[in-house]
Amino acid sequence: MRLFIAVHFSREIKNALLSAIDALRTQAVSGNFTRPENLHLTLAFIGESDDISAIRSVIDRCAVPPFDLAISGTGIFGNLFWVGVEKNPNLKTLAENIQNDLRKSGFQIEERAFKPHITLARQLVTKGPLSINVARSAMTVGRVSLMKSERINGRLVYTEVYGRNL
Ligand code: 2AM
Repeated sequence: MRLFIAVHFSREIKNALLSAIDALRTQAVSGNFTRPENLHLTLAFIGESDDISAIRSVIDRCAVPPFDLAISGTGIFGNLFWVGVEKNPNLKTLAENIQNDLRKSGFQIEERAFKPHITLARQLVTKGPLSINVARSAMTVGRVSLMKSERINGRLVYTEVYGRNL
């Protein structure tokens, strides 16, 4: 199965992201907008694996106490629209520790630097400059989730296969 490790959002952050998606829908010509239940922040992308127990051990070993996270800023990478996260050493350390531990455990994880982002739209087509304001919003990260990604009837569906409270 296709796996990744992610953080999910508080209601407040989700609402800020959903307002931004509404604004994007209004301003863009077209796009593939992230469904509300799919909003997440990826800590590590694993890809195809069935070794849930090894990944569980990695998550358990890397668990840290709860820490705060705030969303901030937007950007476009190719045709993908994202919302950023305020500079966050705790988040960076957690993601890097998980990625390094996965590598040590035999998983092939891309060597790219960790750039936390929340994808709001893919295949975005615009007709001019966008003006998307995202309300500054913060939360405490209290859980890390191992997520399975599947296409079901053409829809991207994410399901938690393991969760670790911090
Ligand atoms: P993205 O939103 O920038 O595409 C599930 O696909 C999650 O893993 C998404 O958050 C996705 O980021 C992230 N991801 C990171 N590297 C990926 C890769 N090589 N292929 C697919 N998804 C990847």
